[in-house]
Amino acid sequence: MEQRRFGPTKRQVPVIGQGTWYIDNGNRVAAIAALRVGLDLGMTHIDTAEMYGGAEEIVGAAIAGRRDEVFLVSKVLPQNASSCGTIAACERSLARLDTDWLDCYLLHWRGRYPLDETFEAFEQLQLQGKILSWGVSNFDVPDLEEALEIAGNNRIACNQVLYHLQERAIEHAVLPWCEEHSVAVVGYAPFGHGKFPGPRTPGGRVLQAVADAHGATPRQVALRFLVRRPSLFTIPKASKPEHTAENAGAGDLRLTRAQLALIDETFPLGPPPKVLPVL
Ligand SMILES: NC(=O)c1ccc[n+]([C@@H]2O[C@H](COP(=O)([O-])OP(=O)(O)OC[C@H]3O[C@@H](n4cnc5c(N)ncnc54)[C@H](OP(=O)(O)O)[C@@H]3O)[C@@H](O)[C@H]2O)c1
Repeated sequence: MEQRRFGPTKRQVPVIGQGTWYIDNGNRVAAIAALRVGLDLGMTHIDTAEMYGGAEEIVGAAIAGRRDEVFLVSKVLPQNASSCGTIAACERSLARLDTDWLDCYLLHWRGRYPLDETFEAFEQLQLQGKILSWGVSNFDVPDLEEALEIAGNNRIACNQVLYHLQERAIEHAVLPWCEEHSVAVVGYAPFGHGKFPGPRTPGGRVLQAVADAHGATPRQVALRFLVRRPSLFTIPKASKPEHTAENAGAGDLRLTRAQLALIDETFPLGPPPKVLPVL
């Protein structure tokens, strides 16, 4: 499994990680087994959140006895992200995950609390050793500019954002901004949250042809495309061990320039999102 440096941190993190939203919805034993298979195959970046119901407990059970292998990420909900609320939320997550520390702690999305309150709490948690780094999620460029102004250089470890073949909007501005400021970009919902191009669609056929050339699968090709730049990471969620194993197979796949260009053309970037004027 290929690893790369995670933003400004000194940590090497696998390019393919594991998401956990809705992992508590099905068979608990299979979900724990799926996460463990992922760890065995090097997908040691596990993403969870206080919002994901019972997911944190499942992650806690999956990483029991192997905490040191894991790059564990959780998130505070915006409605809890006051200075005291952030610390309390982190402590609840630590208890559910049955661990003493998170490798990275994120603000899930912007809410009503000023960023400096949340970031002050993150810094305090880091001083206490309860988190080793912190970052943000669903931040657009104006939010990132404000965050940088408050936090200073090399404090924001990552921005976790929506990124899949049919939703590449981050490539217009968010991704270049993060690259310029050494912020890791963690793409979520790499399979479109269950809407992966089917085998009979034109896009699905292109992915299959590229996959055939490597003895790989269309999903592995998609994941590889989504981590083709050095700032990028991805976190597919799988609650079935066979799905986890397939996803891990993308970790060492290499696509040629021509194959990357073909995928780029098949799933075009589209126009930049419209930015509403600030009144
Ligand atoms: N920061 C945020 O605001 C935010 C928002 C959304 C998501 N996220 C994070 O990103 C993670 C991933 O996003 P997501 O869960 O929304 O969607 P996703 O990873 O795009 O898709 C998950 C779906 O794909 C299926 N799947 C996974 N691997 C497969 C395979 N090899 N073959 C066939 N099906 C496969 C899963 O099925 P099974 O479960 O049956 O295996 C599940 O139905 C989340 O779990 C969460 O950790 C963050």
